[in-house]
Amino acid sequence: MPRIDPARLLADLRTLRGIGAHGRGVVRPAFSAADMEARRWLARRYQEAGLEASIDGVGNVLGRSRHPGRALLIGSHSDTQPTGGWLDGALGVIYALEVVRALAADASTRELAVDAVSFQDEESRFVGCLGSRSITGVLTAEMQEEVTDRDGVTLADALRQAGLADAPRLRIERERYAGFLEAHIEQGPQLEDSGRKIGVVNGIVGLRGIRFVFRGQQNHAGTTMMARRRDAATSLYELAYRINREFPKVAAGHSVWTMGRARIEPNATSIVPGYAELDLQFRDASEAPLDAFEAVAARLVAEMNARGGVSIEATRARAPIPPTRMDEGLQEHIAEAAERHAPGKWQRMPSGAFHDAGIVSACVPSAMLFIPSIGGISHDFAEDSRDEDIVLGCRVLADAAASILACGRA
Ligand code: GLV
Ligand code: MN
Ligand code: MN
Repeated sequence: MPRIDPARLLADLRTLRGIGAHGRGVVRPAFSAADMEARRWLARRYQEAGLEASIDGVGNVLGRSRHPGRALLIGSHSDTQPTGGWLDGALGVIYALEVVRALAADASTRELAVDAVSFQDEESRFVGCLGSRSITGVLTAEMQEEVTDRDGVTLADALRQAGLADAPRLRIERERYAGFLEAHIEQGPQLEDSGRKIGVVNGIVGLRGIRFVFRGQQNHAGTTMMARRRDAATSLYELAYRINREFPKVAAGHSVWTMGRARIEPNATSIVPGYAELDLQFRDASEAPLDAFEAVAARLVAEMNARGGVSIEATRARAPIPPTRMDEGLQEHIAEAAERHAPGKWQRMPSGAFHDAGIVSACVPSAMLFIPSIGGISHDFAEDSRDEDIVLGCRVLADAAASILACGRA
């Protein structure tokens, strides 16, 4: 059985944490200077581990095994949210590196082929799961055209600044891979609450989004009587309120929705706002509630537009993510490894966060494992996991990887 090196694993995770560190958290959005520095550092680590490393035209870092035969692809992403935690994505990326090194050090697994990957922009600075969409061939021109980040920077400019504009984009070699494994922090409280140590993910939620643009008339906040106002912000507040009132009526048990970004122009206390934007995102493990949410949103917009005053335009987000199931056979390998390392302390569970595995699963069988998040906190500087849980998760992953590849050889 391969033996991981806990000290080396934790040291590499901490080195990566240092690139873009902000207090306890990390600010390393896709294509930022810190992100590209992290990607170059990772490519060097892949080389040292004996892999052939490259950074492709969207920033994916791939470490390709030099061993012949069917390979496993293992990894996650190393970009972060605008204010992100240190383990979201980074955990799975460093696990992959450690699994490669552990397998190479053991006579019984030395010849097995594992490729390591860090996908780009999983966290949606431009397009959620940009890197895994690109490598699997589902990144459309429409998703990339004129797309900007929240500060108005275009993807094309970010690629140019990162020095990637002319680099070739990799395409996954489907027939090369027996599967893709992604390990991740849970980012929720279930494992911690139940005292379990490993989650074997059975499915990943789907996600869609709508951007609402409100156009009214900017005017003086003292002289414009209430009856004459065409206040874009008031319209935004009303729509948000009605979404929160109507969505529960069509939601499934685990549906969630978030209005996490709003913009009011000109955002000044003494001006009736003439323009506003609101981003709505909703998630569920099946398509039906997502369809229902879209229908409700369309009805509310039609009702409010019929009243006149402020006009509302709704545009679907260009990069939805479909709900996906994880591969049963790969899940079984992870479950068996979890039972060996943490008897009775693992569970199957769905993922409420989306992941690159959800995209990759469309062309290569994919599976995920989770480790506990302290307090269930993620997408926040406070995100953390216990060292012993980090080490255990990597042991389970290394063991599962070896057993999947050994199975393929038999
Ligand atoms: C991924 O980071 C998500 O928002 O689920
Ligand atoms: Mn992540
Ligand atoms: Mn995330």
